[in-house]
Amino acid sequence: MESLKMLTGDLVRLRPLEPEDADALYRWHNDDEVMRWLQSYFHESLAGLRKRLADRQENSHEKVTLCIETLEERKPIGIVALRDADPINARAKVDIYIGEREYWGGGYGTDALRRVCRYGFETMRLHSIELTVVEANERAIKSYQKIGFQVDGRLRQAFFRDGQWYDELLMCVLADELT
Ligand SMILES: CC(C)(COP(=O)(O)OP(=O)(O)OC[C@H]1O[C@@H](n2cnc3c(N)ncnc32)[C@H](O)[C@@H]1OP(=O)(O)O)[C@@H](O)C(=O)NCCC(=O)NCCS
Repeated sequence: MESLKMLTGDLVRLRPLEPEDADALYRWHNDDEVMRWLQSYFHESLAGLRKRLADRQENSHEKVTLCIETLEERKPIGIVALRDADPINARAKVDIYIGEREYWGGGYGTDALRRVCRYGFETMRLHSIELTVVEANERAIKSYQKIGFQVDGRLRQAFFRDGQWYDELLMCVLADELT
């Protein structure tokens, strides 16, 4: 049986967030390139972030937030979260980002997403997992398609950034579609 404490993929290991992760998260959240296609309304102080991490609820069926670490060096490089799990429809949402830019394009995010989706399907007994992505975020869309996500819908002009509206795509993977 797999443990929630540690999920291991081919390139990454996923573990619960710790208060010590605050500094890395603060750096990632203040990197405009990382945040470019992510919803981020307000700047958060380092003290606020530290407090939020120290006070946060333990992972549960409703929300599983995990730190993505490289398998070899155990370097924290990003976050992945399964949230809003609906037990009747066995459906949940997923969010992911790699905050350490030098790891983009190296397959780490794709591996982490595949691993957490497998956890969602096999252990949480979900039937489908969905996400939204800005249509202009081509690398992310390609990553999601590589593991079986399909476009199920379009949210027109749902994302506003730097004076411009962008469409968002609703993407979804069913349990038997994950590759
Ligand atoms: C989106 C993200 C999680 C993808 O993870 P990743 O590990 O970088 O993804 P991969 O390395 O598997 O790359 C995915 C595909 O995009 C391609 N790609 C890489 N850079 C690209 C670029 N600038 N434009 C278009 N495609 C690109 C890769 O070639 C790869 O396809 P391939 O394996 O067929 O060659 C990660 O890049 C990230 O966190 N980006 C910043 C934050 C973000 O956008 N989060 C998602 C919000 S919805």
